[in-house]
Order: sequence, then C-alpha cells, then structure tokens
Amino acid sequence: MEDITEIAILGMGNIGTEFVEILQHQLSEIEDITNQKIKISKILVTDLNKERNVQIKQNIITTNPDEIFNNKNISIVIEIMGGVDPAFEYVSKCLESSKSVITANKDLIATHGKILFQKAKKNNVSILFEAAVASGTPIISTLIRDLSYSNINSIRAIINGTSNFILSEMEEKNTEFMEALKLAQKLGYAEPDPTNDIEGFDARYKLSILSSLAFKTEVEYPKLHVEGISKIDSIDFQYAKELGYSIKLLAIAEKIKSGILARVHPAMIDVNNPLAKISGAMNAIEIQEKLLGTVIIQGPGAGPSPTSSGILSDLIHVLKTKHNSQSVPNLINNLQINDIKTLESRFYLRFIVHDKAGVLSKMSNILGEESISIASVIQKENTNLEEKYADLVFMTYKSSQSSIDKAIQKIAKLDVVDQLKSLIRVE
Ligand SMILES: NC(=O)c1ccc[n+]([C@@H]2O[C@H](COP(=O)([O-])OP(=O)(O)OC[C@H]3O[C@@H](n4cnc5c(N)ncnc54)[C@H](OP(=O)(O)O)[C@@H]3O)[C@@H](O)[C@H]2O)c1
Repeated sequence: MEDITEIAILGMGNIGTEFVEILQHQLSEIEDITNQKIKISKILVTDLNKERNVQIKQNIITTNPDEIFNNKNISIVIEIMGGVDPAFEYVSKCLESSKSVITANKDLIATHGKILFQKAKKNNVSILFEAAVASGTPIISTLIRDLSYSNINSIRAIINGTSNFILSEMEEKNTEFMEALKLAQKLGYAEPDPTNDIEGFDARYKLSILSSLAFKTEVEYPKLHVEGISKIDSIDFQYAKELGYSIKLLAIAEKIKSGILARVHPAMIDVNNPLAKISGAMNAIEIQEKLLGTVIIQGPGAGPSPTSSGILSDLIHVLKTKHNSQSVPNLINNLQINDIKTLESRFYLRFIVHDKAGVLSKMSNILGEESISIASVIQKENTNLEEKYADLVFMTYKSSQSSIDKAIQKIAKLDVVDQLKSLIRVE
C-alpha cells in the first residue's frame, strides 16, 4: 500500500458527523479500493467545546484554518461548513496550496464555481461536488464524467425535496399550501424560514450548477427566472387532475437556437410522465441527450447518509485519480442565457371572475387578439368564495410568454375579472 493520504474536514455539523462515522466504519474497505492509507489530520469548527457525537481525537479539532492551509501533508480538504463566506476564501486557499477539494456546498459552487474550477486547473488539483445537488444521487459525476462527450438537449428536474413534499401532500391529501408547509416543518423537511425552498431559490442554485455542466458554459444563477410554489391552491390540483396533469416545481434548462433557456417554476406535467410520479422529498433529474435519448436519475435529495455517500464517492475518485485536475469541469462554451419572455409553452390560467353572462367571451376575445388559442376551458362556481364569483380556467395551446403577459394585462382591466389566481406552464 502507498503512503498515507492526509485529509482535513472544514465543518463537523450534521453532515460532517455522519461522514466521519461512515469513513471510520468503512476505512479499510476504502483503503483497499484506493490502495492508499487515509488519515483525518484536522477538522475545522467554530466551537472547540461543542460535544461531538462521533469518536475523534480532541487534538485534531481546531478553530484555526491556517493549520490546514499551511500543512503540506494534507492533500485533500472536504468542505462541509456551508455558506459562501468564508467558504470561498478557505476553498480558494486550499486549491492555491495544491490541495484537492471536495464540497457539498451548492451555494459556493453556484456562486463561484467557474473561478474555483480555474484555480483547481491552474494548480493541477481536483474540485468535486457530487453532494451539492441531490445529495448522493449521482448526477454531477454523470454529467461531468459519463456524459462528457454528450449533446444534451434538456434537463428537467425535481431538485427541491421540501417543495416536492409540500406539493405531493397538497395533491394526495387535498390540503392547502400552509397546512402542507406546517407538516413539512414538523417532520424536518422544511426549515423554520422556508423561503429558499418554497420560492425556488434553492432549486435555482442547483439548476445553475446542472446546466453549467450539461451545456459546458457558465450559467449564472441570477439570470435564471424563478417562481415558487406558495401561490398554488389545492383547487389547482383538482383542475390539473381533470385535465390529466400533476403539478411539480420543475427546474428546466434547454438548448434553444439562441443559447439556453433555464428556469424554475411550478409546471403541469402529464400524469403518465415519470416525473409526475416522484413523490415526497425525493429528487429526480431527466436528461435528454442526442444519442442516448431520455435518462432519469432518481434518489434522495438530502440527509446526512445520502450526502455522505456523495462525498465518499468523490473522495474515492480523487484518491484513484491521484488528485489531478482531470475531472474538473471544462466550461468551454459561451452560450447566451435567454429571458423567459422567449419561452413558447402551453399555459394553465385560472382567473377569479364575476359570475355573469358574457365574461367568457370578453376574455376569449382578448386571448384571440394576442393569437393565443384555447385548448380547453373550465368554468365553475368557486364555493370557497362569496357568491357571484367563479373560477375560469383556460388551458392554452402553445403560445409565447410575451403574448400571455400582454393578454393578462388586458384581461386584468376588465371589470368582470377579479384577479389572475394561477399561471402554471405546461411541460
Ligand atoms: N443537510 C443536508 O441534508 C445537506 C445535503 C446536501 C448538502 N448539504 C451541504 O452540506 C454542508 C454542511 O451542512 P450541515 O447541515 O452539516 O451544516 P451544519 O450542521 O450547520 O454544520 C456546519 C459545520 O461547519 C462549522 N462551521 C461553520 N462556519 C464555520 C467557520 N466560519 N469556521 C469554522 N467552522 C465553521 C460548524 O462548526 P460548529 O460545529 O463548531 O458550530 C459546523 O460544524 C452545507 O453546505 C449544506 O448545504 C447538506
């Protein structure tokens, strides 16, 4: 067996504790697979006195990151402290001192991925981040290594377990959004402040990473359109069912003539589509590739064990490839990121209208003026509202986002229309 490989870990919280325990448990197996001895030399934390639920020597725990940056024997650093600052500074220093880095930090990769990849290449070390999207579900390595030759047309993904849990509850148990959110919080699927998950920001970070890798171009997350799930009502699921659809928070990136169109928003998908069957906190990513056709990878999106699995797989890869930069993503393209206004899609529109004669024809006329063809209409008394209000649901044929926006503005001015309650794109 070769010399000892010394590793350091930045962070020893939920993930770090589980990861160290698994590493200790499987150490001899990993050493056999990689033909190397492994030793954890340092673990960085903020609080030296905190009780740690794993057996480690107290003298390897430190609050001083320089003990890691300046230790020439440490060749691999695992960053599981989270956040962008100071993680960016610490990871940069590790790469610059020729240490390979493994991270589970999606915020860090989505924000500074390109510059970190450049630093890794410059120093001929690795940076791997399997656990940053869909925890240990092997999507990152699939995109970087297995599909590196590929011509990917699109990605459609359910990559926020919290939102998918809430939507599944609303669909299966006919509950309203707030009730489903409270249950998600009670079960630990949603944080006390759930904004990042329910408003789509977490999925947008992950989509920027996946689409950067799929299309080999930098996809900056602030350029991506994002809408969350908090405005969806349980009645939308009833209409969706009537029309043959399920509702999911989808992260979508597709190649179009002028570059890439990437977005996160609730979407109606055919009930027979495999993504419609992804229930609860699960994640799934559908890739459409020219030679391969459709591939779907499904697995847990969070949790200490799946996340540790992703980190472990990266660790084994770094050890086997001798820490070099061969697996660092090459963002060789410079594709344009297009605005959602360029989207062509079918739309589900639900308006609350006054229950009067002639409403439907006034609204249909406006849709016609904007060249929007109607595939189906449902008009029903809304029993949740005061009398004289009705739900008016339009399912359109393919129309442009800009035409829909114009039509909605005109419809909002009609005195017979109370409000647009839901706009859901149909995939
Ligand atoms: N939880 C999941 O299911 C999951 C899934 C995929 C990816 N991830 C990612 O994994 C990472 C870790 O998540 P976690 O849930 O384990 O976080 P966590 O429980 O909050 O643990 C963070 C750890 O980092 C240490 N730390 C934080 N800031 C530090 C600083 N400035 N200097 C030194 N140490 C610092 C903390 O030290 P103390 O212990 O002393 O406070 C703690 O040990 C995050 O990037 C997260 O997004 C998590």
